Parts: sequence; C-alpha cells; structure tokens
Amino acid sequence: MLTQAPKGTSDILPESSGKWQYLEGLFRDICRRYGMKEIRTPMFEHTELFIRGVGDTTDVVEKQMYSFDDLAGRNITLKPEGTSPVARALVENGLYAQMQPTKLFYITPCFRYEKMQKGRYRQFHQFGVEVFGTMSPLADAEVVSIAADMLEALGMKEIELRINSIGCPTCRAKHREALKEFLADKYDELCETCKGRFNKNPMRILDCKSEKCQKLVEGAPLMLDYLCDDCKDHFEEFKSILDDMGIEYIVDPGIVRGLDYYSKTAFEFISVKQMAQGTVCGGGRYDHLVEDIGGPEVPGVGFGMGIERLILMLEQEGIEIPSEDPADYAIITMGDEARSAGISLARKLRKDGYQVQVDMMNRNFKNQFKYANKIKAKYAIIIGEDEVKNGTYNVKNMETGEQKTLTQGEL
Ligand code: HAM
Repeated sequence: MLTQAPKGTSDILPESSGKWQYLEGLFRDICRRYGMKEIRTPMFEHTELFIRGVGDTTDVVEKQMYSFDDLAGRNITLKPEGTSPVARALVENGLYAQMQPTKLFYITPCFRYEKMQKGRYRQFHQFGVEVFGTMSPLADAEVVSIAADMLEALGMKEIELRINSIGCPTCRAKHREALKEFLADKYDELCETCKGRFNKNPMRILDCKSEKCQKLVEGAPLMLDYLCDDCKDHFEEFKSILDDMGIEYIVDPGIVRGLDYYSKTAFEFISVKQMAQGTVCGGGRYDHLVEDIGGPEVPGVGFGMGIERLILMLEQEGIEIPSEDPADYAIITMGDEARSAGISLARKLRKDGYQVQVDMMNRNFKNQFKYANKIKAKYAIIIGEDEVKNGTYNVKNMETGEQKTLTQGEL
C-alpha cells in the first residue's frame, strides 16, 4: 500500500519525462505563434465554482469530483478541468477589462474519480487554450487550429476533427422540449441518473455513458436542426474559416460534450480507430460561463487536450518522439588529483551550458568508461596523471573513437 500509487494515478518516470517535456515545449511554441499567454491557476478551487461552471447534472459534478472539507470547513475540489478556474481567474483579476481578446493557455493536471481504463485516469493532464472577450467565429477557428497544428506537427494522421453547434439558451429551449417529447415514453427505462436529468437538463441524457441510455436516445432530435439564425450564421462562418485555413472536418450532430457550459460551437478530435477513449481533444464555445460563475458577460472559446491520450495515440500510430537528452561530456579520472581537476572542470563546463556527468560511484577507470557508454555521452574527457601534470585534457569522441589532447582554452 505504502509503495503503491493510488489507483488511477501514475508516475512519469525519467525514461518518459523527456517525451512530456518535448510535448510541452511543442505546445508552448505553437501557443506562442498565436500570441497566447500562459496562465497557472491553483490545483483546487471552491467546489461551488465547478457546480456552477461545469453544471450539477454533468457526470463530472455528479460522480467524479474529489471534494473535501478543509480544516476550516470550506468545501474544496481538486480541479476536474481547466476552464472554470481560468474563468474564475479572469473575473477575479479583472482581465476582461483589459484590451480584448484575452488569449490564454495552460498545462495542468486534472482530477476525476472515474472508472480506470486505458486512456482514462483519476489524475490526468491537459494542454488547454481559452480565448475570452470575442464572439467572432474566427476565435473558434483559431482555437481549433492550435489543436490541429499540434497534432499535425507530431505527424498524427489517424485523427479526425468532428464539429457541431449545440446552440444557445434561446434555441436550446425548443430542442429541449422536442427531446423531452421524444424521451417521454422511454422515461421508465432510463438509468436513475438520467431520470433526474429528464426535467433538469435532458440534453445530458444524450451524453450518458450507460449502454441502455445510449440505445434509447438513438434517433433523438438533433440540436443542429433547431439552431436560431444567430447560431446558424455563427456555425456557417466557423466552417467557412476552417475551409480558409485548410482544416478538414466532419459535421457530427452527435457531438454534445460532457460539460454544461458549452453553447454554439462544440468540437472533438477523435481517433479514427474505434478506440474506447478515442477523444484526444475536446472543446467549444462557452458564452455564458463567466456570467454563470458571477462575472460580467464575457464570451469565450477553448479546448482541452488529454496528454496521456495524446501519448497513447502517438504510440498507436508508431510515432516516436525524442525523449533522450544524453550527456555532452562524461569526465573520467584516475587518482585523487585528477578527480579534483575533473570536478573543477565539470563546474566550468556546466556554467557554459553543457550537460556533464562525473563519477559518484567510485568506479574504476574501466567502469567509468562503461558508464560513459551506457549514458551515451558524446565525449569523454579523460584526466590521468599526465594530464594533471601538463594541464591538458584527453578528449575522446565516443561515436568515432577519435582522441585529442586539448588545453583548457582549446576545450
Ligand atoms: P473534456 O472533454 O472533459 O473537456 O476533457 C478534455 C480532454 O481531456 C478529453 O478529450 C481527454 O483527452 C482528456 N480527459 C478527460 N478525462 C480524462 C481522464 N479521466 N483521463 C485521461 N484523459 C482525460 C474539458 O475538460 C474542457 N475544460 C475543455 C475545454 C476547454 N473546453 C473549452 N475550453
């Protein structure tokens, strides 16, 4: 127990942390190209934020939150997603009052008490992007384009973009009535959670994970057929900008998203191989979230991309990402004086930005070489009695085997 991580969590070990750093670096760089600035919000928030933001009829709030009372009796929740905390920070810090739009990105762990499966964990990580302060469909398309750039830069091919519009509160009211009518004679067969959703938020039934409910909603009225003119225009322009950008998509009226704050645009990047956890990225517009959590009227749009799922899909496509960072120099010494000279040299080289490894295991000369090979050092710097006497270094290129005697200046 003591030496086992809690179910649904995992360690990112040194052998794969390089991969994570590479992906994080790529994501940061792509965000930079769009002028996005990083935001970091706390790991936990007041529970009420997620109840209001994500919605009390969603699976996330109903079944999956890590909530607890702190020692002062405040109800606290580990963040199950990144958007509500960013919206809270926007309001609290008055970012909406600065020149708009506000364009933000983040890299964050999220916590959801879910049934463990491949690609579904209790602590997972997201790359996220949120753009506030504009209703323009160009913002929706830029957000999609960031995710598309990321997947493209990695060379992923077996992924498609599905888009939909889930309307605004005005047009959704009509859809809601149509949906209730459609489900009315199936009510008794719905799962207990969905029975509760029937009156409060029937659209959530479309998103229920129970197989029985999924069967019952087959052929249900589609939100896309109920859009008001404003939502229709927004969707048409969004599609036309994606066309301008050369981003391929499929309109999928079945995309409803699992969180309540969405309006208008909803989208997902999905693995074309029928995988159970095939959604690597999901997002959309949320024009009422900021108001719902007590802020002013500020529209927004964004996405969250699951990093573990991204890595799984990369593996599935056989795409290797660089994860090794071999040493520039391994210092190999013989005798105490040489060891001192080696330690001093290592410090100098590190100040110049090189990765340098020195022996900490009291290995003999031969084993120091073996170690240098094992860690794939580019060069070995060999210091023996002669080198100490002459103030020189014997430098060996570990790939070609070529050796040179250099002075410190030359090195
Ligand atoms: P979400 O669809 O709940 O949206 O999550 C986004 C992505 O996080 C999913 O597509 C998936 O890749 C990953 N993910 C979700 N749950 C898990 C899990 N249990 N284990 C592993 N990966 C998971 C959101 O979270 C929204 N905040 C996205 C957003 C940002 N919408 C607008 N802005």
